[in-house]
Amino acid sequence: MGRFHQISFESIDEAAAFVAALSRQVAGQLADLRADHAEIAAAIRGSRADVFLSGDALAACERAFGAPPETHPAKRLPTDSVVLVVSGAPEALGRDDVLARLAAGASRRGPITFRPIGEKDLKALAEWRRRPHVRKWFGPPDSIQEMRAEFLEGSRQVRGYIGEIEGRPIGFIQSYVAKDAGDGWWPDERDPGARGIDQFLAEQSELGQGLGTRMVREFVAQLFSDPAVTKVQTDPSPTNARAIRCYEKAGFERVGVVHTPDGIALLMLCTREGFMAGAPAAAPPPSRS
Ligand SMILES: CC(C)(COP(=O)(O)OP(=O)(O)OC[C@H]1O[C@@H](n2cnc3c(N)ncnc32)[C@H](O)[C@@H]1OP(=O)(O)O)[C@@H](O)C(=O)NCCC(=O)NCCS
Repeated sequence: MGRFHQISFESIDEAAAFVAALSRQVAGQLADLRADHAEIAAAIRGSRADVFLSGDALAACERAFGAPPETHPAKRLPTDSVVLVVSGAPEALGRDDVLARLAAGASRRGPITFRPIGEKDLKALAEWRRRPHVRKWFGPPDSIQEMRAEFLEGSRQVRGYIGEIEGRPIGFIQSYVAKDAGDGWWPDERDPGARGIDQFLAEQSELGQGLGTRMVREFVAQLFSDPAVTKVQTDPSPTNARAIRCYEKAGFERVGVVHTPDGIALLMLCTREGFMAGAPAAAPPPSRS
């Protein structure tokens, strides 16, 4: 796909009106879209889905609004309202393509659940770990046997989960008890209530759209639903700017650079008090940590 331009709208109606104006403007250029305009508008209304348009749509946006879409004032609105993404690749668009993306967008909006990793997940997890966007930050993938030992056998100091939205696996997240973690990890931690987390999204195409922030925030909320948990830490590479920004948005603060058995890391912390101060009104149901 080509360059993306992301526009957020305050309401479903505003987004639907935008699509309507857009498809009038591009009539004759995007035959597939024109035919499906009503269906797409209906899908937006029904699902709060993301919409992807391509081709001459960008120029059409400019005509429709008298300005490039990037300068549309609605762009400053929160991105988890309604998002329209306009791509610059004409050939990328087709009816099925648009509808598949609508479905994917819709399936990003449900609640995230965390399912403990089981034997049946190990193969898929190993494949996720080999993906370049994961490998870049997690290093060479563990073998299935190593993951089995980590998540399914032994002391279970580390608990691994598959994050899911309405049954669709979206990523991996693990929590660990920081105190007495062993192997040189967190030797100074004395607090038995300290937890640590590590995570990644499975699909590179879903990075940078707020999904990771949601996943981290909702997982941390689950951890804090256990009254024994006092704080949650995470330790991205100091060069992993996207992850650091994601964790800040999820409620973590930078503590400082630390040396870990995996190398230099930026220790980031989310205290119970800090999280609760910024937590949304509806907390998820209690779950084990
Ligand atoms: C880390 C990860 C879970 C974050 O999830 P995500 O959905 O991509 O993150 P979000 O979209 O919620 O937030 C990312 C933020 O970083 C910003 N960002 C992206 N690239 C950036 C960069 N190079 N420099 C600075 N900020 C960047 C985004 O704009 C966004 O901030 P904004 O909403 O203020 O604009 C996900 O990117 C991932 O799985 N990455 C690969 C594996 C990994 O790095 N795991 C973490 C190991 S510690």
